Amino acid sequence: MTEQITALVTGANRGLGRQLAAELLARGAKVYAAARRPETVDLPGVVPIQLDITDPASVRAAAAIAGDVTVLVNNAGVSTQAALLTGPIEDIRLEMETHYFGTLNVSREFVPIIEKNGGGAVLNVLSVLAWYHPPTSGAYSAAKAAAWALTDALRTELAPKGIHVSALHVGYMDTDMVSYIPAEQKIDPALVARQAIDGLLGGQAEIIADELSRQVKAGLSTANS
Ligand SMILES: NC(=O)c1ccc[n+]([C@@H]2O[C@H](COP(=O)([O-])OP(=O)(O)OC[C@H]3O[C@@H](n4cnc5c(N)ncnc54)[C@H](OP(=O)(O)O)[C@@H]3O)[C@@H](O)[C@H]2O)c1
Repeated sequence: MTEQITALVTGANRGLGRQLAAELLARGAKVYAAARRPETVDLPGVVPIQLDITDPASVRAAAAIAGDVTVLVNNAGVSTQAALLTGPIEDIRLEMETHYFGTLNVSREFVPIIEKNGGGAVLNVLSVLAWYHPPTSGAYSAAKAAAWALTDALRTELAPKGIHVSALHVGYMDTDMVSYIPAEQKIDPALVARQAIDGLLGGQAEIIADELSRQVKAGLSTANS
């Protein structure tokens, strides 16, 4: 993709989403920085826009405003650390509502816009936990695995429409989501954002941003044997 990009990044007010928005901006894109509370968007040069990915009316309203989008970045996410058998069912549903149905809601509204604008790309922020499913993160892992399947299915469906779909897999990043993890086990989200946008614009199907994700991916063929 070499033409002028107009991107929308969900959850762009902090963490990886803010870095993804900054990276796209640095490459000359127009960037809609979508957030539940757009007043918390503090990146100069972006266009803040209200968007709660779990609220269909909010997603429709954003799509009505951002009709020039050619690149969608589904980044917004939550981590409740709910265990599947003992965690609050509301938390387990929130994970699925956010990572799976939220990503789907936004994609259903914005893919027709990208198509109308001549094609483009979608980046879905997944996780190493789409592949590795420890019981301590059961709800999150199941939701990311569902989002991984969604990503693969959309990639095949959208290729003939000139819309490329990338998945980003990463382990621990230094963001609010995993503030309880020691710093030395986390990577800088700015580095992840750079790899992600390189991979997306380079047409990669799967962007694997850190060593942990590479190791887990390599082990998939021997898992459960
Ligand atoms: N941090 C990690 O180690 C890690 C590793 C692998 C993958 N990931 C994934 O990376 C993505 C970004 O996470 P992060 O680490 O940057 O976490 P973060 O710092 O906690 O940021 C999460 C972002 O998602 C937004 N969000 C949550 N629910 C939303 C909703 N319903 N509608 C709109 N926005 C919503 C939050 O908005 P508010 O400010 O309104 O809450 C915030 O902007 C997520 O998909 C996460 O699962 C993170």
